[in-house]
Amino acid sequence: MRLTIHPVRRLAGELTLPGDKSITHRALLLGGLAEGTSRIRHFLDSGDCRATMACLRLLGVELQRGGEETLLVHGQGLRGWQEPNDVLNCVRSGTSMRLLAGLLAGQPFYSVLSGEAQLRRRPMDRVTIPLRQMGAQIWGRSGGRLPPLSIQGGALQGITYHLPVASAQVKSCLLLAGLFAQGRTTVIEPAPSRDHTERMLRAQGVPLESEGLRHSLEGPVKALAPLEITIPGDFSSAAYFIVGALLVPQSEVLLRGVGINPTRTGLLDVLAQMGAQIELLNQREEGGEPVADLLVHSQELHGAQVGGELVPRMIDEFPILALAATQAQGTTQVRGAAELRVKETDRIATVCQALRALGAQIEERPDGFVIEGPTPLHGTLVESHGDHRLAMTLAIAGLIAQGETAIEGAECIGDSFPEFEPSLDTLIKGA
Ligand code: S3P
Repeated sequence: MRLTIHPVRRLAGELTLPGDKSITHRALLLGGLAEGTSRIRHFLDSGDCRATMACLRLLGVELQRGGEETLLVHGQGLRGWQEPNDVLNCVRSGTSMRLLAGLLAGQPFYSVLSGEAQLRRRPMDRVTIPLRQMGAQIWGRSGGRLPPLSIQGGALQGITYHLPVASAQVKSCLLLAGLFAQGRTTVIEPAPSRDHTERMLRAQGVPLESEGLRHSLEGPVKALAPLEITIPGDFSSAAYFIVGALLVPQSEVLLRGVGINPTRTGLLDVLAQMGAQIELLNQREEGGEPVADLLVHSQELHGAQVGGELVPRMIDEFPILALAATQAQGTTQVRGAAELRVKETDRIATVCQALRALGAQIEERPDGFVIEGPTPLHGTLVESHGDHRLAMTLAIAGLIAQGETAIEGAECIGDSFPEFEPSLDTLIKGA
């Protein structure tokens, strides 16, 4: 699908963001392991989350609509999943594959995790190496480095593991395997990453301990309580409208019900460094997560330095940050973000290539990029490379570029934000 975008005069109005993708995956999986039925309100019905749902059905978990935006997950208990009679297809969802790998390592049956070519290129040794240390029998192509993964689940032992990279998927995979392991599983992160798994397991009655970067639980856990949860709006989806409202002159946008878990909002810190003032209104808690309404209006930005512990706190926001930097006065430098090379695409390469095609001054570095701004952008034909976050970034770029911006392969936006285009349309005032 080709998405064409034209420059707009301003963005204005209000929007409620769709449910958070990371939290939806966890609610589906942990609901599927609970004793009894979980009620998940405002869940994200996107391509990636549907992949997790389809895997759960093959594992014997029944899912049922419980009214608008609500899903009922009929949990089978920690030991009630059945051996799937087919390959578990994670499609393009890395979160589905890595979290399921941890859970399936502890199940007394055989399973295979695979997905589309894009996912079959992504590194899995970050989970197969520690899972093997826990005693799991898990195989993958290239010695366990690449999917498909095949798993003969069984007895596990707790380990203490220092994560080589800050990754919430790997941390979650190991803590989930730890539910089934004998003894204590301890994961030590190099920097804080999103903590949705820890919050949810605690809400289900698991005495998971977190002390700074160290998270641990004692296995085997007997049972998980069902969830009653309203999923907060996805900060990573809100990010496109935050930057859109900052860059399009005369804009004012209110984004309602956005999750502001500090392990996710590094972009707000960087934008503040760049001179932006974003108001957090009506701060509250929903589903054990902090939530607020975000009021954003257009503002002048200047360049910033991004690196260190900020990186995992905004790991999915680098494409849209790069766009903001093209319009900021001076130099923006991103360092220590080599992880971007193993996302849905090599995001350092694809972001640099696409923004350069629109006229940006952006230079690739092994672990980031350097942008000189501001530069006027001009519309042209650009490629999403099947990366939803790049496609949405380019759509926002199209709002401020001269002429027409056409994004080839825009259907991937549905992986995280199927309602992106109609949501954007409601904010566009004056084409
Ligand atoms: C996610 C963690 C991050 C993020 C991804 C979702 C999660 O990946 O990029 O979109 O839900 O745990 P890594 O753990 O690979 O950093």
